[in-house]
Amino acid sequence: MPSAVDASMALSGYPPQYLTPTPPDSLGASTSRRPKMFRTCLAGVFVFSIALNLFYFARIPRSFYSPLDDYQHLKHYPFVNTSGIPPLSEADWRGAAVVTTLFSDSYAPAVATLGHSLRLTNTSARLIVLYLPAQVSPEALCLATATGFVPHAIARIPPPADGRGMNRHFRDQYSKLQLWTLDALPEPVTRAVYLDSDTLALQNFDELFALPYALAAVPDVSAAHGFTLAFNAGVLLLRPDSNLHDHMKDALALARFPPEFAEQAFLNQFFGADAARLPLAYNANLAVKQRAPAVWAALWPETRVLHYTVDKPFVAHDWRRVPLARVEERVRKAARARGGVFREEMLLWGRVWRDAQRVYGMRMQDCGME
Ligand SMILES: *[C@@H]1O[C@H](CO)[C@@H](O)[C@H](O)[C@H]1NC(C)=O
Ligand SMILES: *[C@@H]1O[C@H](CO)[C@@H](O)[C@H](O)[C@H]1NC(C)=O
Repeated sequence: MPSAVDASMALSGYPPQYLTPTPPDSLGASTSRRPKMFRTCLAGVFVFSIALNLFYFARIPRSFYSPLDDYQHLKHYPFVNTSGIPPLSEADWRGAAVVTTLFSDSYAPAVATLGHSLRLTNTSARLIVLYLPAQVSPEALCLATATGFVPHAIARIPPPADGRGMNRHFRDQYSKLQLWTLDALPEPVTRAVYLDSDTLALQNFDELFALPYALAAVPDVSAAHGFTLAFNAGVLLLRPDSNLHDHMKDALALARFPPEFAEQAFLNQFFGADAARLPLAYNANLAVKQRAPAVWAALWPETRVLHYTVDKPFVAHDWRRVPLARVEERVRKAARARGGVFREEMLLWGRVWRDAQRVYGMRMQDCGME
């Protein structure tokens, strides 16, 4: 009697083994090759996609493109036309001051030289140096003020959190916030250009006093990190206002900012998006030359204020005071340092220092500073 299988074979024409269900062991053997291939493929796609991701991740720029890192000198046109600025009244000029600071004797020759350079630019503003009486000797103050700065004693503002995490060299820098109290002077300062004492004025910048901003400053730059949006606090245009000063001191206790950059980081945090950015010519920071020599070359004829950030021709490397008789030697050493990259700038400072001694020699010698 024919079986059911034979009957189905008769119907389909296939041998019976193809019609019976496959035994479990043979099923395992025939399908295991396919998932293996599938898994290999999947792993391949996975590895390829990771590699592709890594490739594109590596190509993501770490910071915004900066045109200054690919500088091309394309224009020959002045960056400021002062004829467009309404002239300040005599009363306005009485309230205008260029202000610097003196927190230790080692910066006295720098302040004296800066004062002389400012006088040479014929600025219409008063010159004021804020100093810490407990840290500055009468001899150093005498030398620093021999070329035109008028001294004004201030109280030290200590760094927040006892200066934890900050560069020791910046520990007095929060005293700069006293700039905002100068509206309380008997002859009030209503608009000020602050200059760090390691700067030199090369050209008149009186047009800054006509700007309406509460704060204006030049974007910062570093050789390693390049051109940034944060401003360098070495040159500031500001409007002294004791109320704002009180507000700043309250904010200092609350603000979050990287402590190593001291008052500069705080001021950037405090003014946030409001600070007007000025052209580099108002704070030609030596780091620009390190980062982008082409920018420096184009900037040089327009430079208003030169800022000795990377190297200073008047103090030793550990910020110790250089005796006056050895300042010239220090200048020559600074000119040779770093392969002579700042030779021209260091020698320029030396020339202004020498010229200050020529013009104010007697007054400087009478100070009795060694
Ligand atoms: C400055 O601007 C005035 C008009 O406001 C113009 O007459 C003069 O030529 C400009 N100077 C320069 C150097 O562009
Ligand atoms: C400053 O004024 C003096 C005397 O008036 C003049 O000889 C000199 O050229 C002026 N300097 C600048 C930079 O304008």
